[in-house]
Amino acid sequence: LRTPTKNFSIRAQSAPILTQDELKKLAADKAVDYVKSGMVLGLGTGSTAAFVVAKIGELLQSGQLTDIVDGADEVDPDLNLVKGRGGALLREKMVEAASEKFVVVADETKLVTGLGGSKLAMPVEVVQFCWKYNLVRLKELFSEEGVEAKLRLNETGKPYVTDNSNYIVDLYFENPIQDAYAAGKEISAFEGVVEHGLFLDMATAVIIAGKSGVEVKAK
Ligand code: 5RP
Repeated sequence: LRTPTKNFSIRAQSAPILTQDELKKLAADKAVDYVKSGMVLGLGTGSTAAFVVAKIGELLQSGQLTDIVDGADEVDPDLNLVKGRGGALLREKMVEAASEKFVVVADETKLVTGLGGSKLAMPVEVVQFCWKYNLVRLKELFSEEGVEAKLRLNETGKPYVTDNSNYIVDLYFENPIQDAYAAGKEISAFEGVVEHGLFLDMATAVIIAGKSGVEVKAK
């Protein structure tokens, strides 16, 4: 991907009321502007990334992964993210860490002032063995923020199993996480935790579609 111009926005010509899917598509279309013929591009999961896939289609080529476009569940002002509500956080984090550039596409509903601020799930992938022990430890860790911790279930009411055969404990914060960097380290230090959904200092740029147009933020 070309390094985008830092922090610019494109105003919509008129201001129609767009649905969340239309906003996702707007951000995805903007992301495709960065795709060059011959480039090797990785793509993540989720409905926003799916719009990117649909748009670029045949531009994908096989070979070494250097760049990736993916969605996110939360985006804070420093371009730190929560990801993994779709359950693929471990593989997404590995691929994105290995990528030269990681461009996020999202609609404005994903913007938060602090991670954990959306009141929706922040996932932590844990090994199945003694999962409850980690659920309790995670609750204790975030006692100051106030948190509810729940084992993720699938549509049949059984524990959701990730593509790496682990479980997910979803954390629902009452208040945003005070120090996401410290929190990330502490979660990772728990025995039996495989990965968490805090993606810190990983995004190269974030493309956000909102009612007033598309904004690109880059570090
Ligand atoms: C999956 C993810 C997705 O990128 C994230 O959930 C965003 O999804 P969507 O674009 O459908 O809102 O992290 O694990």
